[in-house]
Amino acid sequence: MMEVFGVIGYPLGHSMSPVMHNAAFRETGYQGIYVPFEVRPENFESAIEGIKALGIRGINITIPYKERILEFFRQRREVREIGAANTVDLKRKTCHNTDVDGVIGALQSSGVDAKDMEVLVVGAGGAAKACVYALKDDNEVYITNRTAKKGVELAERFDVEFIERERLETLKFDLIINATPLGMKGFPEKLPVSEKILGKKPAVFDMVYNPPETLLIRKALSYGCKAVSGVDMLVYQGAKAFEIFTGKKAPVEVMKKAVVSELKKIA
Ligand SMILES: NC(=O)c1ccc[n+]([C@@H]2O[C@H](COP(=O)([O-])OP(=O)(O)OC[C@H]3O[C@@H](n4cnc5c(N)ncnc54)[C@H](OP(=O)(O)O)[C@@H]3O)[C@@H](O)[C@H]2O)c1
Repeated sequence: MMEVFGVIGYPLGHSMSPVMHNAAFRETGYQGIYVPFEVRPENFESAIEGIKALGIRGINITIPYKERILEFFRQRREVREIGAANTVDLKRKTCHNTDVDGVIGALQSSGVDAKDMEVLVVGAGGAAKACVYALKDDNEVYITNRTAKKGVELAERFDVEFIERERLETLKFDLIINATPLGMKGFPEKLPVSEKILGKKPAVFDMVYNPPETLLIRKALSYGCKAVSGVDMLVYQGAKAFEIFTGKKAPVEVMKKAVVSELKKIA
């Protein structure tokens, strides 16, 4: 029997998840279909009830519902620690945060061994939280953020250090991670850290995936830095969700090809 999956968000915009998961279903022969559900905030609760009643098998959750979803399902450990989920397994009634797997998968697949590194995370929103959680046990993680208060709160929560933006150039990092929307289509095409910092040749991971090659990635490459694209994070968080949904190994390369081709279409 065909199983139904989907993504819930508002506004949903042009989500990459349907093409990515449907490509994975086709490749593995899994009897599944994945659809976008744009749900207005006032309808969120009834949408969750509807999803349960209709027997929908799994959903991804995106902005602005990653926190609101928590009260409806049993939270896996990483979800409790981060305070946000992006994947729900309706069969087991559990919610997961696969952005953590996205961060680790993107770095590993790009040959950046994020162990014992001095890592700077720029940003203090949902993506930054998943990132700090993913890396804090094996690395020295630092946070910087436009709004210092939010950055300090995140740093305290995970017991890492907050660094004011004015101090950044006096320090040296092995890996810089952009967890802000700077460089994303529709946002200012500005660097999240100065060129002086890139000149010290850290590895650079930009979570932004649209466009796939951002200003930060281009500049990092021009300084000879190793660069990791947000496309890889998107694919690895999706791959983990696919494995939770189906119990099958995700066809990562096929999923990536589907995303890259979709991004080209909407460029
Ligand atoms: N590749 C993937 O799979 C993946 C997954 C998740 C997220 N992302 C990307 O990660 C980025 C952040 O997502 P999020 O969910 O964490 O967003 P969020 O919760 O809204 O947080 C945004 C963060 O960026 C900072 N920021 C926003 N505009 C800025 C600007 N003009 N200058 C400097 N800092 C700015 C904010 O600082 P303030 O605290 O000062 O407002 C905040 O810390 C987005 O581009 C998103 O697409 C990618």
